[in-house]
Amino acid sequence: MSAAPSASDVSSPSGSPAAAIPRGRILVTGGAGFIGSHTCVELVHAGFAVTILDNYSNSTLEAVRRIRALVPHPDWVELVEACLVKDAQVLDKLISGHPYGAVIHFAALKVRRCGWSGRYRGKRVGC
Ligand SMILES: NC(=O)c1ccc[n+]([C@@H]2O[C@H](COP(=O)([O-])OP(=O)(O)OC[C@H]3O[C@@H](n4cnc5c(N)ncnc54)[C@H](O)[C@@H]3O)[C@@H](O)[C@H]2O)c1
Repeated sequence: MSAAPSASDVSSPSGSPAAAIPRGRILVTGGAGFIGSHTCVELVHAGFAVTILDNYSNSTLEAVRRIRALVPHPDWVELVEACLVKDAQVLDKLISGHPYGAVIHFAALKVRRCGWSGRYRGKRVGC
């Protein structure tokens, strides 16, 4: 399970909130996960809105709640619960309906040394 960011992990470089209008919106797949959640916090502090696409296979809604608690603009954190593999049409709709400035792809099942068994079969994401 991912370790979501806590208040002590995060600092604002300027100490002041980012501008009220985001510099753009970034799609973060796996944004509720370990690296993704920290990335989302930093992105919002840097002035970007984020759309998190996650299926919570290795994370929880609590991570998103904590992201929103740690950023100056919680309303800039949008959430889409979907599987990148099974819900391809959701991704199509997201991409075609939003002018994302960038996509950062973290959604994946982390490889364990003895883990390439049934859990991973048919679930490679972005390979
Ligand atoms: N953590 C590290 O030290 C580290 C180091 C190098 C590379 N990486 C890579 O970075 C990526 C992210 O790592 P992490 O540590 O944040 O992993 P993580 O498991 O904490 O986060 C991955 C997130 O992706 C989500 N996810 C998985 N499959 C999905 C799917 N099909 N659709 C939507 N969401 C899905 C999970 O629910 C989770 O929230 C992985 O590819 C990992 O291999 C991690």
